[in-house]
Amino acid sequence: MEFELNVNGQSVKVDAEPDMPLLWALRDLADLTGTKYGCGMAQCGACTVHLNGQPIRSCVFPVSGAVGQSITTIEGAEGGVAGAVRKAWMDLAVAQCGYCQSGQIMSAIALLQSNPKPSDADIDSAMSGVLCRCATYHRIRAAIHAAAASIS
Ligand code: FES
Ligand code: FES
Repeated sequence: MEFELNVNGQSVKVDAEPDMPLLWALRDLADLTGTKYGCGMAQCGACTVHLNGQPIRSCVFPVSGAVGQSITTIEGAEGGVAGAVRKAWMDLAVAQCGYCQSGQIMSAIALLQSNPKPSDADIDSAMSGVLCRCATYHRIRAAIHAAAASIS
C-alpha cells in the first residue's frame, strides 16, 4: 500500500505494509538514515523521532499510524530548541561512537520543549530510556543544561 507521510515538513510517499515499523519506512524507503536501529523492541531509544512533537520509538510504531501526523527526524530538527541542543552537543563534544546520539538529541529536544529548565532529576527521568553503550550520560546531562541556559 502507498502511504503519504509528512516528514520534516515534506510529503513523502512510501510503499509499505501497514504494520511496517515507521523506522524501516524512514530509513529504507525515505533514505533518512540518521535515525538508528538498536534493539527493535522499544528498549533502547536509538530510533526516537517526534510525532507531533512527542518522542516515539519508531521501531515499534506502524507506518500506517503515522499518516496525517507530523514526523520529525534528526535530519529535520533545526532552529529554536533543536538548534540550541545541536550547538550544545557540539560544544561539549557529547558523542563518542555516536550511534545512540540521534535518539539522545531527539529526546533532549522533546524534554526542553516541554520543560525549558529541567533539573538533573528531570533530565535523568526523561532520558533514562535512551541507552548509551559509551556511557556519555554525564556529557548529555551537561549539554542539556547548556542548551537550556542558552535559550533562557
Ligand atoms: S531500536 Fe527502537 S527502542 Fe531500540
Ligand atoms: S555514543 Fe556510543 S552508544 Fe552512545
